[in-house]
Amino acid sequence: VYTSPEIFRLEQQGLFSREWLCVGREADIPAAGDYFLKEIAGRSIIVMRGKDAKVRAFYNVCRHRGAKILDEVHGKCPGRVLCPYHAWSYNLDGTLLAVPQASDDLNKESLGLVPVRLESHQSLLFVNQDDDAMSLAQYLADLPDLTRFRIPELVCGKRLEYEVEANWKLLCENYSECYHCSGAHPQLHRITESITRGERQQEIGACFNGGPMRLREGIETMSMSGKSRLPTIPGLTHDDCRYVHYYVIYPNILLSPHPDYVLIHTAWPRSPGRTEVICEWLFTKEAVSNPDFDPSDVIEFWDMTNRQDWALCERTQLGVSSRGFRQGPYQPAEDCVHTFDRWYADKLAAML
Ligand code: FES
Ligand code: FE
Repeated sequence: VYTSPEIFRLEQQGLFSREWLCVGREADIPAAGDYFLKEIAGRSIIVMRGKDAKVRAFYNVCRHRGAKILDEVHGKCPGRVLCPYHAWSYNLDGTLLAVPQASDDLNKESLGLVPVRLESHQSLLFVNQDDDAMSLAQYLADLPDLTRFRIPELVCGKRLEYEVEANWKLLCENYSECYHCSGAHPQLHRITESITRGERQQEIGACFNGGPMRLREGIETMSMSGKSRLPTIPGLTHDDCRYVHYYVIYPNILLSPHPDYVLIHTAWPRSPGRTEVICEWLFTKEAVSNPDFDPSDVIEFWDMTNRQDWALCERTQLGVSSRGFRQGPYQPAEDCVHTFDRWYADKLAAML
Protein backbone atom coordinates (compact mmCIF):
# COMPACT_ATOMS: atom_id res chain seq x y z
CA VAL A 1 0.00 0.00 0.00
CA TYR A 2 2.98 2.36 0.28
CA THR A 3 4.58 1.67 -3.08
CA SER A 4 2.14 0.13 -5.55
CA PRO A 5 1.03 2.31 -8.50
CA GLU A 6 -2.06 0.10 -8.70
CA ILE A 7 -3.11 0.88 -5.11
CA PHE A 8 -2.26 4.53 -5.67
CA ARG A 9 -4.69 4.64 -8.62
CA LEU A 10 -7.35 2.93 -6.52
CA GLU A 11 -6.90 5.50 -3.75
CA GLN A 12 -7.09 8.39 -6.18
CA GLN A 13 -10.40 7.09 -7.51
CA GLY A 14 -11.86 5.51 -4.38
CA LEU A 15 -10.68 7.94 -1.68
CA PHE A 16 -9.50 11.25 -3.09
CA SER A 17 -12.35 11.41 -5.62
CA ARG A 18 -14.99 10.36 -3.09
CA GLU A 19 -14.17 11.82 0.33
CA TRP A 20 -14.54 15.36 1.66
CA LEU A 21 -11.17 17.10 1.38
CA CYS A 22 -10.20 20.39 2.98
CA VAL A 23 -8.84 22.66 0.24
CA GLY A 24 -8.54 25.98 2.06
CA ARG A 25 -10.36 28.57 4.13
CA GLU A 26 -13.07 31.13 3.43
CA ALA A 27 -10.54 33.85 4.26
CA ASP A 28 -8.21 32.73 1.44
CA ILE A 29 -10.66 34.22 -1.09
CA PRO A 30 -12.34 37.17 0.66
CA ALA A 31 -13.65 39.15 -2.36
CA ALA A 32 -15.76 38.39 -5.44
CA GLY A 33 -13.63 36.89 -8.19
CA ASP A 34 -10.91 35.69 -5.79
CA TYR A 35 -10.04 32.08 -6.50
CA PHE A 36 -7.50 29.36 -5.97
CA LEU A 37 -6.85 26.13 -7.86
CA LYS A 38 -6.46 22.72 -6.27
CA GLU A 39 -5.36 19.59 -8.03
CA ILE A 40 -7.16 16.55 -6.67
CA ALA A 41 -6.82 13.06 -8.13
CA GLY A 42 -5.21 14.59 -11.22
CA ARG A 43 -8.04 17.06 -11.85
CA SER A 44 -7.68 20.80 -11.52
CA ILE A 45 -10.51 22.38 -9.53
CA ILE A 46 -11.34 26.11 -9.31
CA VAL A 47 -12.58 27.36 -5.92
CA MET A 48 -14.00 30.85 -6.42
CA ARG A 49 -16.06 33.45 -4.61
CA GLY A 50 -19.02 34.79 -6.58
CA LYS A 51 -20.56 38.26 -6.72
CA ASP A 52 -23.16 36.96 -4.25
CA ALA A 53 -20.28 36.22 -1.79
CA LYS A 54 -20.92 32.49 -2.12
CA VAL A 55 -17.91 30.20 -2.63
CA ARG A 56 -18.30 27.57 -5.37
CA ALA A 57 -16.09 24.94 -6.95
CA PHE A 58 -15.87 23.94 -10.62
CA TYR A 59 -13.69 21.75 -12.76
CA ASN A 60 -11.07 23.93 -14.44
CA VAL A 61 -12.25 22.81 -17.87
CA CYS A 62 -13.88 24.88 -20.61
CA ARG A 63 -17.32 23.73 -21.77
CA HIS A 64 -16.38 24.42 -25.37
CA ARG A 65 -13.56 22.12 -26.44
CA GLY A 66 -12.20 21.34 -23.02
CA ALA A 67 -9.20 23.62 -22.59
CA LYS A 68 -7.87 24.14 -19.09
CA ILE A 69 -8.99 27.69 -18.29
CA LEU A 70 -7.02 29.12 -15.35
CA ASP A 71 -3.30 28.67 -14.64
CA GLU A 72 -2.47 30.89 -11.66
CA VAL A 73 -2.70 28.84 -8.46
CA HIS A 74 -4.09 31.81 -6.53
CA GLY A 75 -5.61 34.78 -8.32
CA LYS A 76 -8.50 37.05 -9.10
CA CYS A 77 -10.90 37.05 -12.06
CA PRO A 78 -12.19 40.57 -12.64
CA GLY A 79 -15.89 39.93 -13.19
CA ARG A 80 -15.61 36.91 -15.49
CA VAL A 81 -13.65 33.76 -16.14
CA LEU A 82 -12.17 33.82 -19.64
CA CYS A 83 -11.01 30.77 -21.57
CA PRO A 84 -7.77 31.63 -23.40
CA TYR A 85 -8.58 29.34 -26.37
CA HIS A 86 -11.67 30.79 -28.15
CA ALA A 87 -12.61 33.35 -25.50
CA TRP A 88 -15.76 31.78 -24.14
CA SER A 89 -16.40 33.52 -20.84
CA TYR A 90 -18.18 32.52 -17.64
CA ASN A 91 -19.76 34.43 -14.79
CA LEU A 92 -18.20 34.08 -11.33
CA ASP A 93 -20.99 31.63 -10.47
CA GLY A 94 -19.89 29.37 -13.33
CA THR A 95 -22.74 30.10 -15.73
CA LEU A 96 -21.82 30.79 -19.34
CA LEU A 97 -21.62 34.53 -20.00
CA ALA A 98 -20.61 35.04 -23.62
CA VAL A 99 -19.60 33.10 -26.71
CA PRO A 100 -17.97 34.96 -29.60
CA GLN A 101 -19.79 34.51 -32.95
CA ALA A 102 -22.20 32.06 -31.35
CA SER A 103 -24.58 29.96 -33.45
CA ASP A 104 -28.23 31.06 -33.19
CA ASP A 105 -29.33 27.88 -31.45
CA LEU A 106 -26.64 27.85 -28.74
CA ASN A 107 -28.24 26.99 -25.41
CA LYS A 108 -26.17 29.00 -22.93
CA GLU A 109 -28.09 27.78 -19.88
CA SER A 110 -26.80 24.25 -20.31
CA LEU A 111 -23.16 25.24 -20.78
CA GLY A 112 -22.00 26.40 -17.35
CA LEU A 113 -18.74 25.16 -15.82
CA VAL A 114 -19.20 21.71 -14.32
CA PRO A 115 -19.66 22.17 -10.57
CA VAL A 116 -17.87 20.23 -7.83
CA ARG A 117 -19.59 19.90 -4.46
CA LEU A 118 -18.28 22.40 -1.94
CA GLU A 119 -19.34 22.81 1.68
CA SER A 120 -17.76 24.58 4.60
CA HIS A 121 -17.19 23.70 8.26
CA GLN A 122 -15.85 26.29 10.70
CA SER A 123 -14.81 28.35 7.65
CA LEU A 124 -12.75 25.44 6.31
CA LEU A 125 -13.70 24.77 2.68
CA PHE A 126 -14.15 21.13 1.67
CA VAL A 127 -14.80 19.73 -1.79
CA ASN A 128 -16.03 16.31 -2.80
CA GLN A 129 -16.06 15.01 -6.37
CA ASP A 130 -18.65 12.35 -5.53
CA ASP A 131 -22.18 13.62 -6.12
CA ASP A 132 -23.57 10.73 -4.05
CA ALA A 133 -21.42 11.31 -0.95
CA MET A 134 -23.10 12.18 2.36
CA SER A 135 -23.14 15.87 3.30
CA LEU A 136 -20.05 17.36 4.96
CA ALA A 137 -22.06 17.93 8.15
CA GLN A 138 -22.94 14.23 8.24
CA TYR A 139 -19.36 13.26 7.50
CA LEU A 140 -17.97 15.40 10.33
CA ALA A 141 -20.86 14.69 12.71
CA ASP A 142 -18.78 13.07 15.44
CA LEU A 143 -15.75 15.35 15.24
CA PRO A 144 -15.17 16.85 18.72
CA ASP A 145 -16.56 20.35 19.15
CA LEU A 146 -13.65 22.67 18.36
CA THR A 147 -15.62 25.92 18.28
CA ARG A 148 -13.73 27.17 21.34
CA PHE A 149 -10.60 27.42 19.18
CA ARG A 150 -12.46 30.02 17.04
CA ILE A 151 -11.00 28.77 13.75
CA PRO A 152 -13.26 31.03 11.62
CA GLU A 153 -11.88 34.13 13.38
CA LEU A 154 -8.23 33.13 13.19
CA VAL A 155 -5.91 34.58 10.58
CA CYS A 156 -3.29 32.69 8.60
CA GLY A 157 0.07 34.05 9.77
CA LYS A 158 2.30 31.65 7.87
CA ARG A 159 2.02 29.01 5.16
CA LEU A 160 4.76 26.57 4.16
CA GLU A 161 4.70 23.92 1.47
CA TYR A 162 6.82 20.78 1.54
CA GLU A 163 7.55 17.98 -0.91
CA VAL A 164 8.07 14.72 0.92
CA GLU A 165 9.46 11.63 -0.78
CA ALA A 166 7.12 9.28 1.04
CA ASN A 167 3.66 7.82 0.72
CA TRP A 168 0.92 10.02 2.23
CA LYS A 169 -0.14 7.30 4.70
CA LEU A 170 3.33 7.22 6.25
CA LEU A 171 2.83 10.93 7.09
CA CYS A 172 -0.55 10.25 8.71
CA GLU A 173 0.89 7.33 10.67
CA ASN A 174 3.89 9.32 11.80
CA TYR A 175 1.64 12.16 12.98
CA SER A 176 -0.44 9.64 14.95
CA GLU A 177 2.21 8.64 17.47
CA CYS A 178 4.81 10.19 19.70
CA TYR A 179 6.59 6.89 20.25
CA HIS A 180 9.37 8.41 18.11
CA CYS A 181 9.45 11.76 19.91
CA SER A 182 12.04 11.27 22.62
CA GLY A 183 14.65 10.12 20.09
CA ALA A 184 13.72 12.05 16.98
CA HIS A 185 12.39 15.34 18.40
CA PRO A 186 14.60 16.32 21.35
CA GLN A 187 13.25 19.90 21.26
CA LEU A 188 9.61 18.76 21.22
CA HIS A 189 10.27 16.17 23.90
CA ARG A 190 11.70 18.90 26.11
CA ILE A 191 8.40 20.79 26.10
CA THR A 192 5.64 18.16 25.90
CA GLU A 193 5.12 14.76 27.39
CA SER A 194 3.08 11.89 26.04
CA ILE A 195 0.34 11.13 28.46
CA THR A 196 0.60 7.71 30.03
CA ARG A 197 -1.86 5.04 29.00
CA GLY A 198 -4.89 4.90 31.23
CA GLU A 199 -4.72 8.60 31.94
CA ARG A 200 -4.94 9.30 28.26
CA GLN A 201 -8.16 9.17 26.31
CA GLN A 202 -7.79 8.32 22.68
CA GLU A 203 -10.59 10.08 20.82
CA ILE A 204 -12.11 8.11 17.97
CA GLY A 205 -14.92 8.78 15.52
CA ALA A 206 -15.96 7.72 12.05
CA CYS A 207 -14.05 10.57 10.39
CA PHE A 208 -11.10 11.08 12.74
CA ASN A 209 -8.93 9.90 15.58
CA GLY A 210 -6.51 11.67 17.85
CA GLY A 211 -5.38 12.46 21.31
CA PRO A 212 -3.81 15.09 23.52
CA MET A 213 -0.27 15.72 24.70
CA ARG A 214 0.44 17.68 27.84
CA LEU A 215 2.74 20.69 27.95
CA ARG A 216 5.39 20.21 30.62
CA GLU A 217 5.33 22.35 33.77
CA GLY A 218 6.31 25.93 32.98
CA ILE A 219 5.82 25.46 29.21
CA GLU A 220 3.15 27.67 27.62
CA THR A 221 3.00 26.50 24.02
CA MET A 222 4.87 24.61 21.31
CA SER A 223 7.62 27.03 20.36
CA MET A 224 11.41 27.13 20.40
CA SER A 225 11.42 28.90 23.75
CA GLY A 226 8.42 27.05 25.18
CA LYS A 227 7.02 30.48 25.98
CA SER A 228 4.00 32.02 24.34
CA ARG A 229 4.71 35.48 22.97
CA LEU A 230 1.31 35.68 21.32
CA PRO A 231 -2.17 36.21 22.76
CA THR A 232 -3.97 33.05 23.86
CA ILE A 233 -7.12 32.21 21.90
CA PRO A 234 -9.78 33.97 24.00
CA GLY A 235 -12.06 31.82 26.13
CA LEU A 236 -9.95 28.67 26.34
CA THR A 237 -10.14 26.71 29.57
CA HIS A 238 -7.21 26.04 31.87
CA ASP A 239 -7.02 22.51 30.46
CA ASP A 240 -7.01 23.78 26.87
CA CYS A 241 -3.94 25.80 27.78
CA ARG A 242 -2.14 22.76 29.23
CA TYR A 243 -2.68 20.37 26.32
CA VAL A 244 -2.06 20.28 22.60
CA HIS A 245 -4.53 18.14 20.65
CA TYR A 246 -3.68 16.18 17.56
CA TYR A 247 -6.43 15.01 15.21
CA VAL A 248 -6.15 13.15 11.93
CA ILE A 249 -9.34 13.93 10.03
CA TYR A 250 -9.55 11.29 7.32
CA PRO A 251 -8.12 11.06 4.87
CA ASN A 252 -5.54 13.85 4.87
CA ILE A 253 -6.00 16.62 7.45
CA LEU A 254 -3.71 16.88 10.45
CA LEU A 255 -5.28 19.39 12.81
CA SER A 256 -3.45 20.58 15.92
CA PRO A 257 -5.05 23.20 18.18
CA HIS A 258 -2.58 24.92 20.54
CA PRO A 259 -3.33 27.47 23.28
CA ASP A 260 -2.34 30.39 21.03
CA TYR A 261 -2.59 29.06 17.48
CA VAL A 262 -4.04 26.30 15.35
CA LEU A 263 -1.76 24.34 13.06
CA ILE A 264 -3.26 22.66 9.99
CA HIS A 265 -1.42 20.29 7.68
CA THR A 266 -3.02 18.81 4.59
CA ALA A 267 -1.24 16.00 2.73
CA TRP A 268 -1.74 15.61 -1.04
CA PRO A 269 -0.54 12.38 -2.64
CA ARG A 270 1.22 13.06 -5.95
CA SER A 271 2.59 9.56 -6.57
CA PRO A 272 2.98 6.40 -4.46
CA GLY A 273 6.26 7.76 -3.09
CA ARG A 274 5.67 11.51 -3.12
CA THR A 275 3.39 13.76 -1.09
CA GLU A 276 2.91 17.49 -1.13
CA VAL A 277 2.20 18.97 2.30
CA ILE A 278 0.65 22.35 3.01
CA CYS A 279 1.18 23.63 6.52
CA GLU A 280 -0.64 26.70 7.85
CA TRP A 281 -0.44 28.50 11.17
CA LEU A 282 -3.59 30.32 12.26
CA PHE A 283 -3.29 33.03 14.89
CA THR A 284 -5.71 35.40 16.59
CA LYS A 285 -6.54 38.64 14.75
CA GLU A 286 -5.14 40.49 17.73
CA ALA A 287 -1.78 38.77 17.26
CA VAL A 288 -1.51 39.28 13.51
CA SER A 289 -2.67 42.91 13.55
CA ASN A 290 -0.03 43.86 16.11
CA PRO A 291 2.71 45.79 14.26
CA ASP A 292 5.28 43.77 16.25
CA PHE A 293 3.69 40.42 15.28
CA ASP A 294 6.53 37.92 15.17
CA PRO A 295 5.53 34.26 15.02
CA SER A 296 9.08 33.05 14.31
CA ASP A 297 9.33 31.24 17.67
CA VAL A 298 6.48 28.87 16.71
CA ILE A 299 7.19 28.73 12.97
CA GLU A 300 10.78 27.77 13.56
CA PHE A 301 9.73 25.14 16.07
CA TRP A 302 7.21 23.43 13.79
CA ASP A 303 9.27 23.83 10.62
CA MET A 304 12.11 22.04 12.38
CA THR A 305 9.76 19.36 13.75
CA ASN A 306 8.10 18.94 10.34
CA ARG A 307 11.46 18.41 8.67
CA GLN A 308 12.48 15.89 11.31
CA ASP A 309 9.22 14.04 10.64
CA TRP A 310 9.52 14.16 6.84
CA ALA A 311 13.03 12.70 7.13
CA LEU A 312 11.62 9.82 9.19
CA CYS A 313 8.85 9.27 6.64
CA GLU A 314 11.36 9.30 3.76
CA ARG A 315 13.55 6.84 5.64
CA THR A 316 10.53 4.59 6.13
CA GLN A 317 9.55 4.89 2.46
CA LEU A 318 12.98 3.54 1.56
CA GLY A 319 12.55 0.64 3.98
CA VAL A 320 9.02 -0.36 3.00
CA SER A 321 10.09 -0.32 -0.66
CA SER A 322 12.56 -3.13 0.02
CA ARG A 323 11.70 -6.79 -0.42
CA GLY A 324 13.12 -7.16 3.07
CA PHE A 325 10.19 -5.26 4.60
CA ARG A 326 7.99 -7.23 7.03
CA GLN A 327 5.38 -5.31 9.06
CA GLY A 328 6.20 -5.48 12.79
CA PRO A 329 3.75 -5.37 15.71
CA TYR A 330 2.22 -2.08 16.88
CA GLN A 331 3.28 -1.02 20.37
CA PRO A 332 0.95 0.45 23.04
CA ALA A 333 1.92 4.04 22.17
CA GLU A 334 0.80 3.44 18.58
CA ASP A 335 -2.93 3.01 19.20
CA CYS A 336 -3.73 5.99 16.96
CA VAL A 337 -1.59 4.56 14.16
CA HIS A 338 -3.53 1.32 14.48
CA THR A 339 -6.84 3.20 14.35
CA PHE A 340 -5.77 5.07 11.20
CA ASP A 341 -4.55 1.87 9.56
CA ARG A 342 -7.82 0.10 10.36
CA TRP A 343 -9.80 2.98 8.88
CA TYR A 344 -7.61 2.75 5.76
CA ALA A 345 -7.83 -1.05 5.58
CA ASP A 346 -11.64 -0.88 5.64
CA LYS A 347 -11.61 1.73 2.88
CA LEU A 348 -9.17 -0.29 0.81
CA ALA A 349 -11.21 -3.47 1.25
CA ALA A 350 -14.24 -1.60 -0.07
CA MET A 351 -12.26 -0.39 -3.11
CA LEU A 352 -10.89 -3.78 -4.14
FE1 FES B 1 -12.44 27.24 -24.26
FE2 FES B 1 -12.75 26.95 -26.88
S1 FES B 1 -11.93 25.57 -25.46
S2 FES B 1 -13.23 28.66 -25.63
FE1 FE C 1 7.07 13.55 14.85
